[in-house]
Amino acid sequence: MAKRKRKGNRRQSTIPASEPPVRPHMQSPRRTVPAGIARPPYAITGDPGPSVLPIVRTPAEIDAMRNAGQVAAEVLLHVGEHVRPGVTTDKLDQIAHDETIARGGYPSPLNYRGYPKSVCTSVNEVICHGIPDSRQLQDGDIVNIDVTVFIEGVHGDTSVTFLVGDVDEHSRHLVRETRAALYKAIDVVRPGARVNDIGRAIEQHAHANDLSVVREFIGHGVGPEFHSALAIPHYYDRRATTEITEHMSFTIEPMLNLGEAGLYLWDDDWTAVTADGRRSAQFEHTLVVTGDGVEIMTKTSSGTTPADVFAEAVV
Ligand code: MF3
Ligand code: CO
Ligand code: CO
Repeated sequence: MAKRKRKGNRRQSTIPASEPPVRPHMQSPRRTVPAGIARPPYAITGDPGPSVLPIVRTPAEIDAMRNAGQVAAEVLLHVGEHVRPGVTTDKLDQIAHDETIARGGYPSPLNYRGYPKSVCTSVNEVICHGIPDSRQLQDGDIVNIDVTVFIEGVHGDTSVTFLVGDVDEHSRHLVRETRAALYKAIDVVRPGARVNDIGRAIEQHAHANDLSVVREFIGHGVGPEFHSALAIPHYYDRRATTEITEHMSFTIEPMLNLGEAGLYLWDDDWTAVTADGRRSAQFEHTLVVTGDGVEIMTKTSSGTTPADVFAEAVV
């Protein structure tokens, strides 16, 4: 193959910024959680403190994570059924909040480092951490909904990018290949592999599909802590040589862009948007490493995942 002078290509430069740009709308008052629901330690102060726990889980923790992952997946599936033109992202937040509580869980984002809502809803050029508000989804939008549930002392963290109504082909390509990049990465996870094998798999798939990889947000250790010390870059990082071992627990959550990888934050200090205004998609699973591979924690009781159920729509 000819040497590539630079990343990116003709295809990228012909894809326009998403129009009109997403703008902040009104946020609803903070939602409450009934006293009977067990909260993570940061729920009161907003401060999770430093990560102090090991990067591998006990068998009891793994059992709990299987349950937390299932609840997160089922909440996400339920919310996804309400994605349609006209629905506000605040309404989706309310549905996720209520469904999480109905299942005995705490919506992990709520007051995590002061985050004001129970899920993240990231529309079009919003890369991640979009705050649900009164904006109505529009026909042709894409929206990532990121659900994390805390239950029985552990977190389950999963997200899907949904199509809203009739979506253009560039965006469908973006969503389809971002999902594929997550599964290619999951395929390389096994004891003895290195953390940077994950980023390599994602980056190769992204570049082969004319997409760029966001670098500022990465996968993370997850378990009793929402974000623990283990870092999982979605790009190839020469220094990320940590060996993957049995019972490690972490997320993989690639964010891929139609344009350049650069981003900036809105004044709310949460919402990350692409610098060039072109669209971004993300998929996420919570994983635990097994003796010879990996188990996806964030799947429903029937063994499917929201990513699988909605894959059919992403044709
Ligand atoms: N669920 C996100 C992740 O995948 C984290 C959201 S933190 C919040 O890591 F505070 F924005 F909710
Ligand atoms: Co995550
Ligand atoms: Co998440």
